[in-house]
Amino acid sequence: MCGIVGYIGREEAAPILLYGLSRLEYRGYDSAGISVYNNGCLNTVKAVGKLQNLIDLTDSGKNVPGCVGIGHTRWATHGQPSDINSHPHVSASGKISVVHNGIIENYLELKEMLISEGVQFKSETDTEVVSQLIDYYYNGDLMDAVSRALAKLEGSYALVIISSEQPDVIIAARKDAPLIVAYGDGCNYIASDVAAVLKYTRQVSYLEDDEIAVVKADSVTVYNEYGKPIDKAVTTVEWDIEDAQKGGYPHFMIKEIHEQPKVIRNTISAHIKDGRVDLSDTILSEEFCRDIRRICIIGCGSANHVGVVGRYLLEKYTRIPTEAVLASEFRYSEPIVDEHSLIIVISQSGETADTIAAMREAKRLGAKTLAIVNVVGSTIAKEADCVLYTLAGPEIAVATTKAYSAQLAVMYLVTIAIADKLGRLDAAEHDEIVRELCLLPEKVEHILADKEKLQQYASQYFNNESIFFIGRNLDYAISLEGSLKLKEISYIHSEAYAGGELKHGTISLIEPKTLVIAVATYEKLFDKLMSNVKEVTARGANVLCVAQQHNSGSATDAVNNAFFIPDTHEMLTPSLAAIPLQLFAYYVALSRGCDIDKPRNLAKSVTVE
Ligand code: AGP
Repeated sequence: MCGIVGYIGREEAAPILLYGLSRLEYRGYDSAGISVYNNGCLNTVKAVGKLQNLIDLTDSGKNVPGCVGIGHTRWATHGQPSDINSHPHVSASGKISVVHNGIIENYLELKEMLISEGVQFKSETDTEVVSQLIDYYYNGDLMDAVSRALAKLEGSYALVIISSEQPDVIIAARKDAPLIVAYGDGCNYIASDVAAVLKYTRQVSYLEDDEIAVVKADSVTVYNEYGKPIDKAVTTVEWDIEDAQKGGYPHFMIKEIHEQPKVIRNTISAHIKDGRVDLSDTILSEEFCRDIRRICIIGCGSANHVGVVGRYLLEKYTRIPTEAVLASEFRYSEPIVDEHSLIIVISQSGETADTIAAMREAKRLGAKTLAIVNVVGSTIAKEADCVLYTLAGPEIAVATTKAYSAQLAVMYLVTIAIADKLGRLDAAEHDEIVRELCLLPEKVEHILADKEKLQQYASQYFNNESIFFIGRNLDYAISLEGSLKLKEISYIHSEAYAGGELKHGTISLIEPKTLVIAVATYEKLFDKLMSNVKEVTARGANVLCVAQQHNSGSATDAVNNAFFIPDTHEMLTPSLAAIPLQLFAYYVALSRGCDIDKPRNLAKSVTVE
């Protein structure tokens, strides 16, 4: 979603802002803008569409001189994408310029008040209210005006503010939307995401809710919610800028698909000690596990699909009633959770608004929360009772692949750890699963080496108008993900169904040549799924089947095309079955000429409800 960058120092700000915004493009946006202070004025330039439009308009920033500035990529919420609605928003007097991520919920009320005081508005946005309100309160002290304005705001915000009256300072404030301060040499930065500033510095502080940072070229002071200056921890970012670049691949998505062996290996090996799964540094003690009466896994999109895998695994191996619930539904469902409930919160970004709200609701009800998160220092990572990080590195493509695989790996570890503490996993099976877990990276390599086959299937089917996925149990969970991956990047209509549900309505959509992708890797229900395959082939469907190698004989006979994954322990098939579906989606989107890394209407991190 929206991205923020700010710079104050001795260099020309505009090129730094434009570069920072280019590192944030992956988040999804529909317009961009910058404000730079120079000679007593704020010079603001905005452009709808790709960032390149803004780069062209400013001659790569050369037309906007000055050493203090803020920039923004906007993903429209209030008011359509347009130059006027783009950020930064400058107050009517021209003194205050603001960029904002989040939503100001009471903006209409504040707007009415300001209009009644004679303030004139230009845009339809909630953000313009902030710049006008700060200007309204401004009386020679920017910090005072910002504090007074913040006290009136309801909603969520990462706000960054500059003023033509006090050009030696940038003010940043955060509530429920991420913001970092980054420390340079004789200069400082503000950003919504580390990627925007990593070229310049690795030293960052993560702002907490209700904190305000006063950033000057040679100092940063952070104030807490009571207005007291506080010491902020400075963290060194561990990952490299190369991790956030394409490294020779045509798209981030295919690069990230190829990173999965490494990501799975890193994530698993962080929690295996002497051949045993070890989560002793989490809340999962034996006493805690014995007290759990219910497990709820919450997340959105692909994170929810990992939750569906987790639901099957946790119920099977721990016998604790488990549900996978969409965060957006959980938060308003008056959930029945209490101090005997374990809530597993899954999120790549750690900033998904619905997931944060669902987690807070669960905590309010007394439940314990364990988060599976990729972004270090994110809101969910900070607020959960304990965190297991997925070691996927920065994920840039909007369609998740490597973070999803890392989440699956953590889900296996959590399942094994709880089952072990409850004495439900005998030593032999534990050792067998761990042995197979450690072999997953090389089995994923094996699948990646066979990717041309998926490319060939994609070239056969990329013109289909509708594609169905079927599976049972863990294969149903993988079908959900395969279908989401395909639709989000190729724009082909797609649905995923549990194989047994077909006859209850969906089969009426099967026509001659409809493509059905049958995920048939769950050994116990392989024959059942093959019966579903017969039902659709009898109605003329083409079937592409994904199955384990040892079933290649029976699967090949029943379908038009097949892809075989290496055999593995039945708990772990999701990690292998997901890979061909990711590749198929990628190659279909490629054949259709889609904008693979930045699909239309989507944002990488959904920070608004
Ligand atoms: C998946 O490809 C999507 N981009 C999307 O469903 C994503 O998984 C969802 O928005 C959740 O994001 P999060 O993991 O950052 O919370």
